[in-house]
Amino acid sequence: MNRLRLAIMISGRGSNMEAILEAAKAKNYPADPVLVLSNKPDAAGLHVAEARGIPAVVVDHKRYGADRQAYEQVLDEALNRASIEMIALAGFMRILTPWFVSRWEGRMVNIHPSLLPKYPGLDTHARAIDAGDAEHGCSVHWVTEGVDSGDVIDQARIQIQPGDTPASLSSRLLPIEHDLYPKALAKACYALADS
Ligand code: GRF
Repeated sequence: MNRLRLAIMISGRGSNMEAILEAAKAKNYPADPVLVLSNKPDAAGLHVAEARGIPAVVVDHKRYGADRQAYEQVLDEALNRASIEMIALAGFMRILTPWFVSRWEGRMVNIHPSLLPKYPGLDTHARAIDAGDAEHGCSVHWVTEGVDSGDVIDQARIQIQPGDTPASLSSRLLPIEHDLYPKALAKACYALADS
């Protein structure tokens, strides 16, 4: 199949973005990262994108105040200008409106640090510990209107150890996310190409 033109949307560190960029160096990887979009001008991940020669665009949501659709229209235009076929949200911390989601549904995936359907939303590590769970993990899922509620493409699990804190759990999970996301994204690309 032709490599799908991929945009990666970030808000911060961008370590999952970097894992995808690394995987996509393989010529047979089914996605070609051609655009990084950040809603934050100071996102550390922008430097990573620049160092790897991937065009990065900042669309600062603060400039649009409460007008979320005006903001998303600019995002949508940037994506269309780059002929994007698939979007990977990677630590993108804005909730997208139904308007935007409906335009990209079936072509947009996200990584979430919990074993969905458990713990959609924030503070997933603390919530898993507080619930006394024996295991925790991360999920890559299709993005739909509800927050973190689309179909799961793939998950990876880790054990919660006695004495784990949200910070220790998060740092043990992160490399697992980096392993999962490029593989699950590839699966999503093949599914899209087959549809
Ligand atoms: C990751 O834990 C991801 O699961 C969550 O936000 C974090 C982003 O980290 N959605 P990074 O920016 O990819 O380093």
